Amino acid sequence: MQFRNTLERWGSVAKFFHWTIVLLVICQFVLAFLADDLPIGMEKLTLLARHKSIGITILALATLRLLWRAANRSPILPPTMAAWERFAAKGAHALLYVLLFAVPLAGWTMSSARNFPVSWFGLYQLPDFVAPNESTYETAHTIHEVLAFSLGIIAVLHLLAALKHHFVNRDEVLKRMWPFARVPVVLVAVAAAAIGTAGQTLAAEPGTATLRGNGTGSKLTFDFTQAGAGTTGSFKAFTTTMVTGTDGAPVSLQVAIDVQSLDTGDKERDGLLRDKDLFDVKRFAEAKFTATRFTSEAKGRYQALGKLTIRDVTRDVTLPFALTQTPGGGAPSWLLAGEIVLNRLDYGVGQGEWRDTGMVGNAVTVKYSVKLTPVP
Ligand code: HEM
Ligand code: HEM
Repeated sequence: MQFRNTLERWGSVAKFFHWTIVLLVICQFVLAFLADDLPIGMEKLTLLARHKSIGITILALATLRLLWRAANRSPILPPTMAAWERFAAKGAHALLYVLLFAVPLAGWTMSSARNFPVSWFGLYQLPDFVAPNESTYETAHTIHEVLAFSLGIIAVLHLLAALKHHFVNRDEVLKRMWPFARVPVVLVAVAAAAIGTAGQTLAAEPGTATLRGNGTGSKLTFDFTQAGAGTTGSFKAFTTTMVTGTDGAPVSLQVAIDVQSLDTGDKERDGLLRDKDLFDVKRFAEAKFTATRFTSEAKGRYQALGKLTIRDVTRDVTLPFALTQTPGGGAPSWLLAGEIVLNRLDYGVGQGEWRDTGMVGNAVTVKYSVKLTPVP
């Protein structure tokens, strides 16, 4: 077996990269179309999780493929080809390479912008590419879609050109890229195994899932004492995103709170709370909690070991919560509930005269009851 390329033939490594990527790109279209028709639920999430993992695999293989290409010479095109044909062939190959990077990167950006961190087969969580943002998501989605279809169209033209070489020109171009007799069998077996595993995963285990609560059916309240009286306020706008692993246990938790949305039932007090001596929403519009480590003392009860940022102060916080799946038919949903006592002065919520805890107590009890539903 010839590993390296020669000026006449592609070596087995280049062929392996070419045909594995072809197979995976086909899987990508199949998974995307299967997911597209489904209503939101575990099956759609599982298909899209697989789509993302395979997409990242393509990105990695395309990188290795280009490195290998750079370290090798490439076969020369037959001298019988016209200049424009050489130009078209090289242009199409270059475009295919560009798209093998651009399509997964757009997909990754889209997922980050929608606050769905990308996990590679549940084994490794990739960093977020961009901050969550609705309009970035819309743009990245359109780019991903347009580029994916461009990749599909160019690949079909490329296939037709390869067939023309073989059946019309009767030259060596298709033959020299054609894998060894045994390789298609191996690839087909791998594909069949992958599809089989996908089916089994759907049937047998929940797979990883991203759950989100965006305020509807959820509550985030804070109890504090004002002039010795217990008072309750709430944040109306906050988003909770939780990723669960194959066993249904939490893997990551992110809560983003729009501080401006605070509501204590009194406009003047709310104005004061938003002002610079307390939450200073002009400078610190968002409070957030992020955690990727969890402990569990009992079934369904967890502690998230994470970081809480309010204003410009970030502190380690252990957030206790219970996670229960809501019973009954219909779309699945989960309830994340618990409470924690925080000291407002630890986060600088109280500058100047508001440092005094005589009027407004230091301890604040934050209570959360968040409805989470699966999202793609
Ligand atoms: C070469 C690799 C890839 C190809 C060919 C591909 C292709 C596609 C296609 C054709 C669609 C359907 C278009 C639509 O109607 O939205 C789609 C959707 C999607 N792709 Fe990819 N994709 C690739 C990689 C990725 C990666 C790496 C990610 C994320 C890490 C990703 C995430 C998604 C998501 C989340 C959707 C569903 C979008 C929605 O409907 O909200 N894709 N992809
Ligand atoms: C997703 C689908 C495909 C992609 C992304 C793709 C990508 C590429 C790229 C980038 C090259 C250039 C290799 C280089 O110069 O390093 C190439 C070469 C080649 N591809 Fe594809 N390809 C796809 C599908 C196919 C199909 C379906 C066939 C034929 C049945 C095919 C046949 C060939 C042949 C014969 C060559 C070698 C051309 C030469 O020797 O100069 N490809 N492919």
